[in-house]
Amino acid sequence: MLLWSKGFEPDKMIEEFTVGQDRELDLRLARYDVEGSLAHITMLESVGLLTADELSTLTAALNDIKSMIERGEFTIEPGVEDVHSQVEFLLTQRLGDVGKKIHSGRSRNDQVLVDLKLFYRDELKKIAKSVEALFECLQRLSEQHKDALMPGYTHLQVAMPSSFGLWFGAYAEALVDDMHMVVAAHKIANQNPLGSAAGYGSSFPLDREMTTRLLGFATPSYNVVAAHMGRGKTERALATAIAAVASTLAHMAMDMCMWMCQNFAFVSFPDELTTGSSIMPHKKNPDVWEIMRGKCNRLQSLPNEVALLTANLPLGYNRDLQLLKDITFPASSTLCECIAMARLMLENVRVRTDIVDDPRYDYLFTVEEVNRLVLQGVPFRDAYRQVGREVMEGTYRPVREVHHTHLGSMGNLANPQIAAKMASVMAEIL
Ligand code: ARG
Repeated sequence: MLLWSKGFEPDKMIEEFTVGQDRELDLRLARYDVEGSLAHITMLESVGLLTADELSTLTAALNDIKSMIERGEFTIEPGVEDVHSQVEFLLTQRLGDVGKKIHSGRSRNDQVLVDLKLFYRDELKKIAKSVEALFECLQRLSEQHKDALMPGYTHLQVAMPSSFGLWFGAYAEALVDDMHMVVAAHKIANQNPLGSAAGYGSSFPLDREMTTRLLGFATPSYNVVAAHMGRGKTERALATAIAAVASTLAHMAMDMCMWMCQNFAFVSFPDELTTGSSIMPHKKNPDVWEIMRGKCNRLQSLPNEVALLTANLPLGYNRDLQLLKDITFPASSTLCECIAMARLMLENVRVRTDIVDDPRYDYLFTVEEVNRLVLQGVPFRDAYRQVGREVMEGTYRPVREVHHTHLGSMGNLANPQIAAKMASVMAEIL
């Protein structure tokens, strides 16, 4: 039974095509749909559109549906279009006419908007929590391995000494930048669209400040048209945030794949965290990092997908918007899964501490040699030429020592300062 049914049954193929994946995806919106309805009816009673008795009957029935959802017993029946229809269907089935009153002053268009805003708000918090845990793990590893040297590369050529302290710490600080995007997306999601109805408001005296307060939103999306423009724009912000974290993870995954390669052998993992080959008995493959790289690279296409799906849509509701759920719902789960996996791997990483003793890394230390001469009073350009000549003539002998002391360098990682930066971004969302 469709909410908008007016006495004829729509073609089954048309129904399946337009409903798409909504019956499955909307299950994730169910508890938010009920929360939105609870706020809406409380407000309707306060402006005289429901009696106190009707409010308590509807509240009790909605709370029953809420428990049903929590017990995992809520489903969207075949023939019912979406979560909003299913909840209203259950209410009218149980309460008759009172159930039919709930929809005064709203439309499924603002209902889905409010569900999505509440859902995205929670998803972004989940992302923030997992990023925080990954950040802490990286900072711990950075401190633990601050003296373990490794080669730094430019152009993928041996360049200058680096350290595992720097490497782990770098990814921790990169996550701070990503968190700014997560916080921005959360701010955009944290605005109340309820009361915008089909996109142009209502002639009922709806109290939008009240529903904003009841649902814990920071502010209403005031302008009812702007509230509807928020569908698509919110997803774009969410997608950008997800893509930001994903790009950091994809980069980390690439480093790990390369460093697990025997030619580098900078890091290794316990056997049970690696995978084998069906033909080569010696293989310990980095499949986890490869799958993570692939998933996170795909996640980086999200902002584009959202942009293209919503490009040049006319103002107001258009059914294309429904497809945003197909893009964003799996994405935030995939990202959280990848973050958790990165943490599991990092908590078990083994770092080699004698890497730079290998003669192939002799030239890592040429700049150290140049700097030593400079400190003895030789002008930089002359010192550079002198060491360059030694390299060419094969007389250069490395001194495998580094004395980096400036802020952010391997001898002064500034991890507490980076932690303070992360704490202040996290405070905006958690
Ligand atoms: N399933 C729809 C969506 O996600 C709900 C809103 C339907 N509104 C409408 N006018 N068809 O967009």
